[in-house]
Amino acid sequence: MSNSINAKLKKVLVIGLGQLGLPVAKYVNDKGFDVSGYDISSEAMIRAQEKIGLKTTTSFRNFDIYIICISTHNSSNITSPQIEGLISVTNKISMEANNGSLVSIESTIPNGTSKKIFELLEHRLHVVHAPHRWYSLDEEKYGVNQLRVIGGVNPCCLKLGLEFYAGHSKCDTEISTDEEILNNYNKHENTNTSFIETQQNFNDSNTLSNNNQLESQTYIQSLEIPMHSVSSIEVAELTKIIENSHRYLQIAFAEELYLYCQANNILFSELRDALNTKWNVEILEPRDGIGGHCLPKDTKMFLTSSKMRSKILQSALEVDTLYRDFLTRREKKLITSVDNLTN
Ligand SMILES: NC(=O)c1ccc[n+]([C@@H]2O[C@H](COP(=O)([O-])OP(=O)(O)OC[C@H]3O[C@@H](n4cnc5c(N)ncnc54)[C@H](O)[C@@H]3O)[C@@H](O)[C@H]2O)c1
Repeated sequence: MSNSINAKLKKVLVIGLGQLGLPVAKYVNDKGFDVSGYDISSEAMIRAQEKIGLKTTTSFRNFDIYIICISTHNSSNITSPQIEGLISVTNKISMEANNGSLVSIESTIPNGTSKKIFELLEHRLHVVHAPHRWYSLDEEKYGVNQLRVIGGVNPCCLKLGLEFYAGHSKCDTEISTDEEILNNYNKHENTNTSFIETQQNFNDSNTLSNNNQLESQTYIQSLEIPMHSVSSIEVAELTKIIENSHRYLQIAFAEELYLYCQANNILFSELRDALNTKWNVEILEPRDGIGGHCLPKDTKMFLTSSKMRSKILQSALEVDTLYRDFLTRREKKLITSVDNLTN
């Protein structure tokens, strides 16, 4: 592998051409990379060809970068996390990709997933996680190019990822030494032989100038996205699911306040307006309950990510169920106030 890794970063395959994958493919293409797209759904591939003129392919051979934007929910229940699709895509990358290519997971995933992917790829490819903050209702402001978090399975993965996304390899936090990473890794996994070999291969190929500090250089071709790097890939994984859990909590609190107002004969909108005059208060609207395929799924990912059960998030899930039940029964004119909810 040459010192100028960036010279190799040319051919990009975007996997998953849905709500997120399409704008990602368009953005990467607009930045001058040679982009192709793949989706398990032939309709999604045709849509990508028609909407943004994307080349599509079913072959994963000879790409320098794989960007994964596939869904991570159960197809029959969008609120339930599922990574089987990610595993099958990884198996295909593993069979067809060249050694040393970069795999960037942009889909939202439970913590610990990126290292599993690295394992499945037999440590032959670099793996980073750069979770998305894309927001469909304001793509101008919160589109593909906005400040994002990035973590790598090991320092050379992060270096390559930063080069691709940000155009430099300067880190925001101190990167662990290989020894620290290895110790940490061994706490979770029993197999370490090939990981050591991989580390040696990376070091031999000069992708790292120093194991403790990534060499900072500026590269010509990149996505020019500002990236906040973190010292472990688990932190990157957690940022996304906690971001959405935090939002879930905020909405659940609004739902509970709404139910409180119903039970106590107070006008919610008036109370909310009055509360939001305070500079550090922002009470949201409860609307139709907490929906979509991101907030409920990601909150469940976070809830199951730790041995320590989050009581506050568990309660928030219950509040959302209560609020939806209230809306349904009100629609059917079964109740006039929240008192009747338990009847
Ligand atoms: N949409 C957003 O606003 C947003 C924002 C941040 C993060 N995310 C995350 O990004 C990921 C994708 O979200 P989305 O909104 O684009 O979902 P989506 O359902 O719109 O699109 C997902 C695409 O992935 C494809 N796909 C599923 N399994 C596949 C497989 N095994 N191989 C190839 N393609 C496969 C589907 O056919 C679909 O076209 C999710 O993890 C989501 O949580 C989405």
